[in-house]
Amino acid sequence: MASLQSSCTVVAPNPRHRTPTSSKPFSAKPSYFLTHAKRSHRFQVSCNGGANQKPTADGKVDRRNMLLGMSGLYGAANLVSDPQAYAAPIEAPEFKACGEARDVATGDLLDVNCCPPPSDKIIDYKLPPFTKLRIRPAAHKVTKEYLAKFEEAIRRMKALDKDDPTDPRGFMQQANIHCAYCNGAHDQVGYKNLDIQVHNSWLFFPFHRWYLYFYERILGKLIDDPTFVLPFWNWDNPKGMQMPKIFDNTASPLYNVNRNQANRPPAIIDLGFSGASDDLQKVVNNLTVMYSEMIRSVNSTTDFMGQPYRAGNSPSPGMGSSERGSHVAAHVWVGNPKNKYREDMGNFYSAGRDTLFYCHHANVDRMWSIWRTLKTDVPKDITDPDYLNAAFMFYDENKQLVRVKVADCLDHRRMGYDFERVDIPWLNYKPPRKAAKAKRQTISPGAQNPEDLFPLNLKKITRVLVPKSAKGKADEVLVLENIETDTTKFIKFDVFVNDEDDNAEELDKAEYAGTFAQVPHKTKDKKGKSTITLRLTELYEDIDVADDDTIVVTLIPRSNGDDVTIGGIKIIPSPPRSG
Ligand code: C2O
Repeated sequence: MASLQSSCTVVAPNPRHRTPTSSKPFSAKPSYFLTHAKRSHRFQVSCNGGANQKPTADGKVDRRNMLLGMSGLYGAANLVSDPQAYAAPIEAPEFKACGEARDVATGDLLDVNCCPPPSDKIIDYKLPPFTKLRIRPAAHKVTKEYLAKFEEAIRRMKALDKDDPTDPRGFMQQANIHCAYCNGAHDQVGYKNLDIQVHNSWLFFPFHRWYLYFYERILGKLIDDPTFVLPFWNWDNPKGMQMPKIFDNTASPLYNVNRNQANRPPAIIDLGFSGASDDLQKVVNNLTVMYSEMIRSVNSTTDFMGQPYRAGNSPSPGMGSSERGSHVAAHVWVGNPKNKYREDMGNFYSAGRDTLFYCHHANVDRMWSIWRTLKTDVPKDITDPDYLNAAFMFYDENKQLVRVKVADCLDHRRMGYDFERVDIPWLNYKPPRKAAKAKRQTISPGAQNPEDLFPLNLKKITRVLVPKSAKGKADEVLVLENIETDTTKFIKFDVFVNDEDDNAEELDKAEYAGTFAQVPHKTKDKKGKSTITLRLTELYEDIDVADDDTIVVTLIPRSNGDDVTIGGIKIIPSPPRSG
């Protein structure tokens, strides 16, 4: 921590506002208070030393770093329950203040009240002790006995909707949790004009892990079986690349009519939106997408986990590679395109109404779990206190309202469950190496210099000649900057390097560098801006890149390219891996 020590001078624009607005006594040093005054009066801060102490563009300093410097992690943790803290974790919402839900794409008011029942008693959740790990099974492999239990539990959960609609454990109540956290029903505590949004950021994995955790415990409670586990939809394995059959029996409580009928079994899922018509091509594309989003294109922790999202930040700072890849694909693939909002799975507000949603997210959760075990050079956990101390609120299996923290869900084994071991066929699914170097003459035609193209509206397939930071096989990343999108649209484009042909249906090739995708969501001005980073190091090996100082990047729009403008493109040496 020593390197974070620094001396900062804090100048309040108006001394009267230097009094802390919180009545809570602090154990911290007096200088602490200065950053703690009313949020509306920002301070000028100048700091000496400490590499991380740079004020941001608007003159603010990253307060998290100041806290680290002044009082260490422990001091930072003490702050989190104080709503007046400046850069601080996202707090658990106040259920009492729950409001209207809106469609994330259009901003339309939804004809749904997804507010959870309020409760005065909130308990800070402690993970209960357990004796044996419960093992979540792959949905395509479950036993008859297991299926009978699962169906009975869902039947009882659905029955609660009629018998006691206010029971927070009922099926619709549980579905509404997703709506409340994703469709603007909850404000950020202390920020009346900012919604809480658990997608498109580093909260994505932790929120859904906790959500499923309680969902699973509730189902177990309803059938009086504390060993009950949810199944996972093994879409990353060819054997699981259809909707699991147990969800497709029209007589089962697991069935849901609001799904894309064309994608019922035996249709093969298309995780890359490749549009491939051939099943085998879809399968290899899927494995390529998995390998890319889990390993090949990931240079830093937040590349995978999602971008930082703290108290006071606008929602949706940016998705991680897994969220924007396989996760989004499965949602859109299952949702019914004939419904206005692609209900159920194709929209946040209704996704939880499909039993398959929880099975899908059990596999998303499994991907996080697998990622943490990968032996790559990227640190696997975010250590930022604003991440670790972010909190959510759920009802547990005893209808008790509990507050949980991100820090307590990093290791699911501590939460009492693990996943059935099945093959992970994408783990080494490197695209076939190129036999011969692509000749620059054959790939460069039509490629233009960035200066002549950017900002680039991605109406059509575009080839760009991008200068490298070093010749040939270097440890580099491709940065696509300030990608401006219409946030109300489903957006997707793919990126290839030194590709000779532009066959959009094939992803399983060495030249595939990665994907940008966006689910429609609501932001204030309908304009989203994000930057993605794709690591090229392994790709260079696979295409045996020539000792050139430029490469040709091909950008292939797949959905609504008209609504995408990319601000800039560049190649830089791989930045530090953490963060
Ligand atoms: Cu909360 Cu997959 O959505």
